[in-house]
Order: sequence, then C-alpha cells, then structure tokens
Amino acid sequence: TGSTPTPQELLAIAIDVAREAADTAYRMRAAGVEVAATKSTITDVVTAADRAVERQVLDALATIRPDDSVLGEEYGAGAPGATGSGVRWIVDPIDGTVNYLYGLAHSAVSLAAEVGGVVVAGVVRNVFTGEEWTATLGGGAWRAGQRLRCSTETDLGQALVATGFGYDAARRSHQARVVAGLISHVRDIRRLGAAALDLCLTAEGRVDAYFEKGLAAWDQAAGGLVASEAGLRVAGLRGLPAGPDLVIAAPEALFAPLHDRLDDLDAAGGP
Ligand code: IPD
Ligand code: CA
Ligand code: CA
Ligand code: CA
Repeated sequence: TGSTPTPQELLAIAIDVAREAADTAYRMRAAGVEVAATKSTITDVVTAADRAVERQVLDALATIRPDDSVLGEEYGAGAPGATGSGVRWIVDPIDGTVNYLYGLAHSAVSLAAEVGGVVVAGVVRNVFTGEEWTATLGGGAWRAGQRLRCSTETDLGQALVATGFGYDAARRSHQARVVAGLISHVRDIRRLGAAALDLCLTAEGRVDAYFEKGLAAWDQAAGGLVASEAGLRVAGLRGLPAGPDLVIAAPEALFAPLHDRLDDLDAAGGP
C-alpha cells in the first residue's frame, strides 16, 4: 500500500488510459461495427467495442493500480485489490454508443477517479475528434491547454440547453413532455447523444446549460467534475445533489430559472 495519490497523479493515469481506450474505439469503428446485444430495451444497444474498450481500461488499471476498485457500465463493479486503496475508477467505455453505431463523430471515453467517494480527477476524450477535456478537484477544467469557463448568459430565454433521453419508452415520453414544455422558454434545445460530452460542452459555453434525468454514475462522473470546475452549478432538484433523478448543470444565473422551470414540468418525476 502507499499513500493516496494526488488528483494530478490520478489524472495523469486517467489520461494515458483514456487515450489508449479511445484509440481502440476508433480503430474498431474503422473496421466496422454492429450491434452485439441489446440491454434494458431494444433501443439500448451495446457493440463489441463497448465491451472491448471497457475490458482494456480494466486491464490497464489493474496493472497500474491493482488495489483500486472500479465501476464500469458494461462489467459493473470490480472488487478492490487485496489491500483496498480508497481509490475507485468510474468508466464509461463509450458514451454515445448510438452515435458510435451510426458513425456520428460524437462519442467519448469517460474515466474518473474517486477518492473516498469524491470524484477528484476526470477525463473525457472524443473518440473521433481527439478533443479531450480534463479536470481535477480544485484544479480547474481544461481542454487543449486552455482553462475552461462556462457561459456568462443570464437570460434563460436566450440559453441553448442540451439534454438527453433514457432508453425506457415510458421515461422517454415523459422526457419529451418536459422538452415540449421547455422549448418555448429557451433559445433552443440540443440532443447530441453523449452525456459526458454534453457536460464538457457546457463547461466551455458551447451550450449554455444541460439537464438530464436518469444518468448513471459513469455518464456524469468525469464530465460532472469538468462542468463544476468550469464554474457551473451541478446539482439536482430542490437542494439535492446531482444524481439519477436529475442532473442540472447551469451557470449560476441560469440555475434558478432552469431549475424552477424543470421543477414545474416535473422533470425528475415520471417513470
Ligand atoms: C447514454 C448517452 C445519452 C444519454 C443516455 C446515456 P451510452 O449513454 O450518454 O446521451 O441521453 O442517458 O445512457 O449508453 O451511450 O453510454
Ligand atoms: Ca453513457
Ligand atoms: Ca456507454
Ligand atoms: Ca449504454
């Protein structure tokens, strides 16, 4: 056992592992892709690459940090090593699998490190473009050597708002009703198809705000840190932390108006 690594040390590992993983995803996509299986519903697809990339990440982490625990979308929770280090890695091997399947250049590897249950480092790397967002707790959010700041928009009516939908049909219908109620109160809505990238785009003001119901830990761990380190308020409804019920990432001035509108629309309710 050693002392707990610093966020910077964990980030350096995360960046190396995520780059290799993104290379694998890119190469596999170039060789062709098909649906390997469906999961919760027929729209919830997984490809061979989702599994291969997660396997590669788990193997790399097991070599570099054998005492850490892991949580991933495709293989679930791995037991910590013999001694247990207090570090847990959270991986979404391909966020935006449907984009990946269709060759839409908007899918990412997301890898975050938690210490004592708090996310302290994260990287999100676009598989197709190589764009890479990083953050450490207290150390800011970065892309291409630039420190990121979120939008300074103050008027919800002029805000470009990203969101996403789960895979369950009843939930989607509810989410569509929320969007229908919101659309005339914002500049426009974007459904780009990868939650981790939505959070990173929000971090640099390429959209003004983002919300989604039903995210898993691997969707939001790394991107959520990038967003909060870029100055966004990342939270749930009515003082709750961001979680599976709702994640809202908005600049301070937009948070309350967006939150209240989403609360009125029962965005965290429904199935
Ligand atoms: C999904 C994407 C999508 C979001 C869904 C996620 P996956 O992740 O992030 O944008 O709307 O909630 O499940 O399955 O492509 O990793
Ligand atoms: Ca995901
Ligand atoms: Ca995924
Ligand atoms: Ca998935």
